[in-house]
Amino acid sequence: MSIEQSEGPVTIVEQGAAQGVSFGLTDEQKALRELARTFAEKEIRPKAAEYDEHSTHPADVVAKAHEVGLMNLHVPESLGGPGLSSFDGMLVGEELNWGCSGIGTSIGANALGAGPVLVAGTEEQQARWLAPLLEEPILCSFGLSEPDAGSDVSAIQTTAVRHGDEYVINGSKMFITNAGHAEWLVVFASTDRSKAHRGLSAFVVPTDLDGVVVERHLDKMGQRSTDTSAIAFGDVRVPASNRLGAEGEGFKIAMKTLDLTRPGTAAGAVGVAQAAYEYAVSYARERVQFGQPIALNQGVSFLVADMATEIDASRLLVWQASWLIDQGQRATLQSSFAKRFAADTAMKVTTDAVQIYGGYGYMKEYPVEKLMRDAKLFQIYEGTSQIQRLVIAKEIFLPRD
Ligand code: CAA
Repeated sequence: MSIEQSEGPVTIVEQGAAQGVSFGLTDEQKALRELARTFAEKEIRPKAAEYDEHSTHPADVVAKAHEVGLMNLHVPESLGGPGLSSFDGMLVGEELNWGCSGIGTSIGANALGAGPVLVAGTEEQQARWLAPLLEEPILCSFGLSEPDAGSDVSAIQTTAVRHGDEYVINGSKMFITNAGHAEWLVVFASTDRSKAHRGLSAFVVPTDLDGVVVERHLDKMGQRSTDTSAIAFGDVRVPASNRLGAEGEGFKIAMKTLDLTRPGTAAGAVGVAQAAYEYAVSYARERVQFGQPIALNQGVSFLVADMATEIDASRLLVWQASWLIDQGQRATLQSSFAKRFAADTAMKVTTDAVQIYGGYGYMKEYPVEKLMRDAKLFQIYEGTSQIQRLVIAKEIFLPRD
């Protein structure tokens, strides 16, 4: 493998100089963020512990989020949707996940489920699958991972064999967000095993078709209020008109979707880190040991200083990636920067928040224990932190056009 010459990562400084960069929010963006924060305070946080304990799908909160317009943000105006920018979605995602990342993910996962339809669907397919999402709180999922194909997408074993005007799908998917409650999901399957990743294709599969079986709800460490299920397909007959893009385009549809959604996952990680930071600051002010608040010890205040710095850096990476997406530019590199850094920051910040709380932090009756469990998932789903580094390294040494 040769290492091509490149000048390395594109930075916001170069791009921003041409088009202008502002760190200020418009009045509309401030109002949107306020709406999401108020929703997180009033509707999400009070229920977070209970849903976490029982690992149940928060259908009532999802329905309310739908009612107030905090779901399906990127469905275009032409279909009757809000047609919000990627950047606006980041503001909402951070706040909902600040409330609870399990519930926030339940609300936000339609962005991933619907992503391939937005990326590759015809106008007719978009109208058919996306417009109904606006009418009621319908969920949709992204069926990529399999028991033996997680990071290595090209190893997908699910097959789709064409018979006349239909495809017959066989296989199983693993770790699928909201699959137990989804009305449809996009299934990535091989239409030609001899072509590896170039033989993958994408299909919209309604979950009420014969042969679709939600096998089990998976019991997770954190983000327990988001349903994560295993789902199987046995001779599922899908009309050929449900295929997104051409045969063989599935891998690229998946990657292009992840380029768009990874900043949103990173925004969720920022929300969790921000919540842990706020708890840690307030506890460090109140907790007195050796006759003074523990915040007066550098061992504690320096942890808090690093938290604040790294949360801000994460947020700026999220904003940069979404800004690029809104400029219509490919943001593979910046999406992976944001996802890697924000996920690792959330893990570090929540771990340090538990440390600042000491013994209390380890107890379930205090909020930071849940945040630390929740944070871990950000380093795993939508591509692990190691996969993000792999993407970044490829963008540096083997850049694509
Ligand atoms: N956009 C467009 N095309 C892309 C692309 C992108 N971002 N990335 C790669 N491609 C193209 C390449 O140009 C190449 O094209 P050709 O066939 O024309 O040469 C092709 O796709 C293959 O690319 P690679 O050689 O880079 O592929 P790879 O097999 O080495 O894999 C990978 C790359 C980055 C590891 C990729 O497989 C990957 O992202 N894996 C992680 C998957 C992942 O994120 N899974 C999470 C599932 S979703 C989830 O977790 C949510 C949930 O519900 C729980």
